[in-house]
Amino acid sequence: MEKPVRLQKFLAQAGIASRRKAEEYITQGRVKVDGKIITAMGAQIVPGKQKVFFDNREVLGEEQHIYILLNKPKGYVTTLSDPQGRPIVTSLLQGIKERVFPVGRLDLDTEGALLLTNDGELAQSILHPSNEVFKTYEAEVRGFPAPTAIRALEKGVLVEKKKTAPAKVRIKQRNKLNTRITITIHEGRKRQVKKMFQAVGYPVQSLKRLSYGSLGLDNLGVGKYKILNKNDLKKIFSNKSLYKQKNS
Ligand code: URA
Repeated sequence: MEKPVRLQKFLAQAGIASRRKAEEYITQGRVKVDGKIITAMGAQIVPGKQKVFFDNREVLGEEQHIYILLNKPKGYVTTLSDPQGRPIVTSLLQGIKERVFPVGRLDLDTEGALLLTNDGELAQSILHPSNEVFKTYEAEVRGFPAPTAIRALEKGVLVEKKKTAPAKVRIKQRNKLNTRITITIHEGRKRQVKKMFQAVGYPVQSLKRLSYGSLGLDNLGVGKYKILNKNDLKKIFSNKSLYKQKNS
């Protein structure tokens, strides 16, 4: 007989979500074991012996892992369902039969690199702050940020009373009214890039994620995706951001 495992670990291994997200689903009452909703943290189950349901669909245990990089278009939500009926990112994955989930989020109006997988453990290590996975964004901001604003972003600014970790910031291009800037951060706070630019007085007009670590979009068109191999996955954890490789 299989050994007991923690419920959140079982859900993560079965590709439902990262472990942390699986914990949220448990507390929200979306997980049933043998017909009973379990909300207590720390519950264990015996795979193969007990039946686990997430949102009333049976969770069948470990699947073959798959890793996808999608160039998310604007106007798509990164949740798996949307009460307002807006399009969801997984609807762009025609031809993928595995049930995958996005690793982290991008705002409705943000485009660019979005990883999707059914490997909850890998998702957890990408999202865990201690691993400091670098993400590079290209922001178009209104106005022409002064050098003091750029330095403030680099050193850290107050976002919801907490200072952001140091960032790498480069001005790419000045247009008539806007400036195109790349910014590399390793934290993943909600709407962090927009809030950072807001904090220094230059609101973001449009935002695109270019890369995770040194894994970039390359020539992937908007709305298109590619399946990643082991080498691609290593690039996510490379502390040399794509931005650093190309610009320094
Ligand atoms: N930061 C933001 O403000 N928005 C995103 O979608 C991603 C990072």
